[in-house]
Amino acid sequence: MLTDVLGRPLRDLRISVTDRCNFRCTYCMPRVIFGADYPFLPREALLTFEEITRLASLFAVLGVRKIRLTGGEPLLRTNLDGLIELLSKIPGIDDIALTTNGSLLSRQVAHRLKRAGLHRVTISLDSLDDQVFQAMNDVSFPVHKVLDAVQAAAAAGLTPVKINMVVKRGVNDESIISMARHFRGTGHIVRFIEFMDVGTANGWRRDEVVRADEIVAAIDREWPLTQIPPEHPGEVATRYRYTDNQGEIGIISAVTHAFCGSCNRARLSSEGKLFTCLFGSKGWDLRQRLRDGASDDELLQVLTSIWSKRQDRYSELRSQASKDRKKVEMFHIGG
Ligand code: GTP
Ligand code: 5AD
Ligand code: SF4
Ligand code: SF4
Repeated sequence: MLTDVLGRPLRDLRISVTDRCNFRCTYCMPRVIFGADYPFLPREALLTFEEITRLASLFAVLGVRKIRLTGGEPLLRTNLDGLIELLSKIPGIDDIALTTNGSLLSRQVAHRLKRAGLHRVTISLDSLDDQVFQAMNDVSFPVHKVLDAVQAAAAAGLTPVKINMVVKRGVNDESIISMARHFRGTGHIVRFIEFMDVGTANGWRRDEVVRADEIVAAIDREWPLTQIPPEHPGEVATRYRYTDNQGEIGIISAVTHAFCGSCNRARLSSEGKLFTCLFGSKGWDLRQRLRDGASDDELLQVLTSIWSKRQDRYSELRSQASKDRKKVEMFHIGG
């Protein structure tokens, strides 16, 4: 079995299919930087569906079992169901998921994605309060449309539907309890995420992080929680269930409780760069090799060599030295 320097296997491949997004979340693509003239990638720079599928098949040979499609906003990529159909035929891949802001996830789209072979979706929603949510997405996108997307995903059987809420102190921390209340008993799983220092554009400050233990304590005061074991090794969320059997929540504590020790994730950017850490500064250019005509054996060798030398554990170290260096932006590798 292929493992890295720290003994971690390769199991999870996150594929960004576009660097574009129709939201301007303040913690990800702040409008001052990502304005009308921002140079997003031209079409020919993006990996084609055939290139993505070829790489994903090779990753599957090396141990990948789960694929997550991300962006930017992945549903902006034309004919995404065509890609899912190709990926779903790869032997060994038993879970295909999608992380989306929900803005384009109508009932029709959800059904098409399901039919193509998508298993489940995670939808980002930072507050149920329109004023708060619209200030965070910065494109005046209303809450009710994201809630419609959650319904559409559930109706299409893209379950369990997960809801990602990035928590920022003084911005949306008042929404923690209302989010928990709204989704308790629905079968959907809210994941509360500590605001992370990904990229260099989002002006991260430690005092804006609401710690995982604060979030758990606040919810536990309303509805007692019991911690439950991970569903699979290397899961990023710590799981809790409501003691009164009204479902579960997840807490993603990348700042206060790093989970690098079990990190089995590789990330492929939309232009075909491979990152072995969310906080990487430069990726390995696989697109060049593909377009230069590399054989499967050559590519397998490259991937094996990269993974076997990997020793990333940024969240555990979070040292000044790594804080000051250049880091890839979240929308390039989809979180
Ligand atoms: P499941 O497959 O349902 O377990 O979801 P997931 O946690 O793999 O996917 P999702 O895209 O919903 O990730 C949730 C949050 O966790 C996002 O904000 C990610 O940026 C963050 N996250 C995911 N993987 C990592 C990681 O390897 N390191 C860090 N620091 N954060 C991560
Ligand atoms: N910190 C934590 N989570 C983030 N996301 C985007 N930027 C950040 C950040 N700085 C989340 C999004 C989405 C997921 C892919 O990553 O909300 O749910
Ligand atoms: Fe777009 Fe997601 Fe980034 Fe928000 S967090 S700007 S929805 S990619
Ligand atoms: Fe994995 Fe890097 Fe996140 Fe640690 S910081 S869990 S190594 S992606």
